[in-house]
Amino acid sequence: MAFPEQRARRLRRTPALRALSRETRLAPGDLIDALFVVEGRSVREPIAAMPGVLRLSVDQLADEAKKIADLGLGGAILFGIPASKDALGTSGYDPEGIIARAIRAMKRATPELLVIADVCLCEYTDHGHCGVYRDGEVANDETLPLLAKSAVVAAEAGADVVAPSDMMDGRVAAIRRALDDARLADTPILSYAAKYASAFYGPFREAAESAPKSGDRRGYQMDPGNAREALREIATDVEEGADMVMVKPAMPCLDVIARARERFDLPLFAYQVSGEYSMLQGAIERGWLEAPRVIDESLLAIRRAGADRIISYFAKDFARRFRG
Ligand code: PBG
Repeated sequence: MAFPEQRARRLRRTPALRALSRETRLAPGDLIDALFVVEGRSVREPIAAMPGVLRLSVDQLADEAKKIADLGLGGAILFGIPASKDALGTSGYDPEGIIARAIRAMKRATPELLVIADVCLCEYTDHGHCGVYRDGEVANDETLPLLAKSAVVAAEAGADVVAPSDMMDGRVAAIRRALDDARLADTPILSYAAKYASAFYGPFREAAESAPKSGDRRGYQMDPGNAREALREIATDVEEGADMVMVKPAMPCLDVIARARERFDLPLFAYQVSGEYSMLQGAIERGWLEAPRVIDESLLAIRRAGADRIISYFAKDFARRFRG
């Protein structure tokens, strides 16, 4: 059958027909919100490079958790920003540190809301790198026990999922072993398996005060030119015991998401990162792009590429507008 019997526009004519034939749908439960948690009291501090996103102190989290749960989001991922940083990022695995207290506050307020702990050292080290920094490089093997400790502390504080984002080799295996040894065998690992050395993380580093003081992350995060390597990274993490895997950033990596979806059966996440958010918000503020359509299209495209769940700073915005 061909034109004129076949007409693709038949299914596009009305909203009802378009809804009937839509392949990809998105609901609040598919989205995970991302929160920045700081020391202090009653802090609700805007982030200049991320209009609409706030840094919150721990006492603000009960309300925030309830809001997120009421909106029906799939959960929240937490990033801690400590008052003081040191070479080994010790505040990242202190049971009384910012991230542990934040997790406890969220779980106390809404036990049913899924809380994911980002596991990395860059927010907690004074040099801003994701591990132990020695002779201008991040020392892989020395970093593993610190990441493992961070994961155990987060899980003990009540995190439902731990999500290593550091890109050290062998970290999933090290974290799995440490969790199992600490009787936390039921805590799943969401691995940032294919994480690129992306310029789109810029606004996050302002938000989390985690920009490296010298050098960059290209010695451990992936080269944006590589896609086959992403599949190897994911395969390695699955072998090491990852329960779920992530591709990051999202919109610059739709091809990687699609290829990962074809190859792997595990739940697949994508992270619509700070730069993707700021790029859209900046253009929306100037009237160059139309909200909310451009926001919804960006999320839908990531879902269509094959991501099951999306971490996004637009999560609450999307959920507030969602109508069945
Ligand atoms: C590292 C981490 C980063 C992001 C999530 N986890 C920053 C980095 O690798 O520099 C970036 C997220 C974003 O840009 O929104 N702990």
